Amino acid sequence: MKVLVIGKGGREHSIVWRLHESESVWKIFCATGNPGINQIAEPVAIAPTDIPALIEFARSKSVDLTVVGPEDPLAAGIVDEFTRAGLKIFGPTAQASQLETSKSFAKTVMREAGVPTAEFESFDDADAARRYVQSRKGSMVVKADGLALGKGVVVCHEQSAALGAIADAMERGRFGIAGKRVVIEEFLTGEELSFFALCDGENAIALGTAQDHKAIFDGDRGPNTGGMGAYSPVPQFGVEIEARIMAEVVRPTLAAMNARGTPYRGVLFVGLMIDGEKINVIEFNVRFGDPECEALMMRFDGDLAETLLAAAEGNLAKASIRLSPRSAVAVVMSSGGYPGEYAKGIEITDLERIEGNAPSEIKTKWALNKIRVKVFHAGTAMREGRLVTDGGRVLTVTAMAPKLAAAVDAAYQAAEMIEFKGRHFRRDIAHRALARISASGRASV
Ligand code: AMP
Ligand code: GLY
Repeated sequence: MKVLVIGKGGREHSIVWRLHESESVWKIFCATGNPGINQIAEPVAIAPTDIPALIEFARSKSVDLTVVGPEDPLAAGIVDEFTRAGLKIFGPTAQASQLETSKSFAKTVMREAGVPTAEFESFDDADAARRYVQSRKGSMVVKADGLALGKGVVVCHEQSAALGAIADAMERGRFGIAGKRVVIEEFLTGEELSFFALCDGENAIALGTAQDHKAIFDGDRGPNTGGMGAYSPVPQFGVEIEARIMAEVVRPTLAAMNARGTPYRGVLFVGLMIDGEKINVIEFNVRFGDPECEALMMRFDGDLAETLLAAAEGNLAKASIRLSPRSAVAVVMSSGGYPGEYAKGIEITDLERIEGNAPSEIKTKWALNKIRVKVFHAGTAMREGRLVTDGGRVLTVTAMAPKLAAAVDAAYQAAEMIEFKGRHFRRDIAHRALARISASGRASV
């Protein structure tokens, strides 16, 4: 089949790469692509939210399946419009995308579905929100209802901080329209976990667990980013947790969405807080995470295009997938200054030394230990024949190995080989799992 992928980051590069390995795929287009993607997919210069132009392109090239990476085109209704035009597309409709685009919607669906989540109330009126805060004890979390570039969540350990967050969002317009409504919820403690499921409206298939590292610096310090690294699976929770999340979260959510007449198709990204036996959903996203996707795509073993087409057609019940039990880790290399201001156009060197071209002793070590290394492009561009930086997150260096520690070592060995001025990466990706493994002496994990 011919596939069109929408997006241009590390997530989309990993999806394109996995589709390129799919037997059923013979041609890939990507709108808009990047220098890594463009080596295996034909770039299409149409913005991800220019839906009419994308429809015309998909029709003119007889594209069999479109796969959407980021949330913006989903929220803008790309799935609704492609479907109306008779084109197959993987992702949720605009209404179903509200699981990500409106926190109050997501919480209401969780409540209807009986999905475990923090106690909450939604408010359109600042005085009512203040009265609620004054009636509660303990830490609280104040969240802008809409998409706020990951900045709309304020954890408040004092009542005064919660009152300030309400005024900022609802009265001072700090998050624009996204903050006119707020959700106020109970503060949860524990360890965060992400889980991904492919959904076809009725059925879901588990794609596994991952853990993201949002802060820019080691030890989870500094401002939050889009994600500085991830690994999958997350061994400290065991595989049993996947069945629990499917039974307690994913299936009830699909049933509730169906009952509302807005069936959910696409990837359901569940953000959870785990505390001993207690699991609570923090949020839903309606797309793959970035860089979680890069780690998951390393582990995905099978025909991704057939699987996503089955999901788009409501046929997942007959599909089966295989995920490698090996560990994958993704380390993001970012531009100096990110997530604040950063320069673009800085030359990237030595990328060709990774993958097939690593020095022979490293190549032998990776081969002997069954280590696979892959570098995905996130924010890169070609200028006058040179590869340069073109975004905050520049590259995602990904490795997979039978043991997590070996995958982590290989990813760092590869990252050290790639140079660009001001490059930054966290040195402690997977630290929670590695600490747990060394504490328990379970070197087999
Ligand atoms: P969200 O955008 O809802 O995923 O929230 C962003 C981050 O805020 C999460 O990844 C958590 O680290 C934190 N957070 C959100 N809600 C809660 C909560 N109820 N309790 C504790 N931390 C939370
Ligand atoms: N890495 C987190 C996200 O993609 O939302």
